[in-house]
Amino acid sequence: MTSSYGLRGRAVVVTGATRGIGLASARAFAEAGALVCVSARDADQVRRVAGELGGVGLAGNVGDPSHARALTDLCLETFGRLDVLVNNAATNQPFGPLMDADPEVWREAFTVNVEAPLRLVQYAWRGWMREHGGAVVTVCTEGAGHVGPGVGAYGTGKAALLHLTQQLAGELGPGVRVNSVSPGLVRTEMARFVWEPGESEIAAGLPLGRIGEPQDVARAVLWLCSDEAEWVTGADLLVDGGTRVRAARTRDAYHLPGA
Ligand SMILES: NC(=O)c1ccc[n+]([C@@H]2O[C@H](COP(=O)([O-])OP(=O)(O)OC[C@H]3O[C@@H](n4cnc5c(N)ncnc54)[C@H](OP(=O)(O)O)[C@@H]3O)[C@@H](O)[C@H]2O)c1
Repeated sequence: MTSSYGLRGRAVVVTGATRGIGLASARAFAEAGALVCVSARDADQVRRVAGELGGVGLAGNVGDPSHARALTDLCLETFGRLDVLVNNAATNQPFGPLMDADPEVWREAFTVNVEAPLRLVQYAWRGWMREHGGAVVTVCTEGAGHVGPGVGAYGTGKAALLHLTQQLAGELGPGVRVNSVSPGLVRTEMARFVWEPGESEIAAGLPLGRIGEPQDVARAVLWLCSDEAEWVTGADLLVDGGTRVRAARTRDAYHLPGA
């Protein structure tokens, strides 16, 4: 897909790497010559992806502290290093009005979406990055800055993750760079309920005329983790096909010609 970006021989942990954005990212790292360590809950899928990419994998829930610890240990024990961490796994539950949100499910979502990324950075820092340096990318969302129907828990968690990312960037430099990518709507399982019924209408409203593919985001993740981005930390890279700026296309609001 790309040049090696200086990632050859580096060891990379990608969570939620068996499909969607995580899989595309893990593939991009493997193609760049990196050593990949992947995780997700479905053990068969983890085995399949680790085999395909010539890496290693561990099945488990990223919200479980013992899984997070075992995952970073697996990377360190197998490859003798842990240069890059991609905090990608997330849940979009509980979906619906906040007044109906079950506190247990809310807490679980925060454990997976916010606490787990911090825990993984702590383990990567203590095990390798504090001494040798490294790069971390968290996968946030273009929607983190906005409110929207049904996504109160998800959006609140992603806004917290964005803040966490920037706080970590300030604390962990100069050795470790910490950035985020914020995707718009991407063709994955998690977002199927949005794009399947509405793709053509959504795409028509976007400046770049289509929804995202997992590779669109993976390329940004790869770049942020590469030496090409050596002076970039605390950044949030929007990869959204122009979602954030689409309001400029609503010509009828100003009664413009052609509306
Ligand atoms: N797709 C979009 O439009 C979009 C937009 C903005 C942001 N994002 C963000 O992009 C990231 C990736 O989402 P995606 O759309 O690629 O989703 P996806 O296709 O549904 O893939 C999610 C991956 O994460 C794993 N996973 C889910 N929960 C997990 C858990 N608790 N512990 C460990 N692994 C877990 C899944 O495997 P298992 O089910 O086997 O665990 C799978 O490998 C997420 O952070 C999401 O919030 C997506």
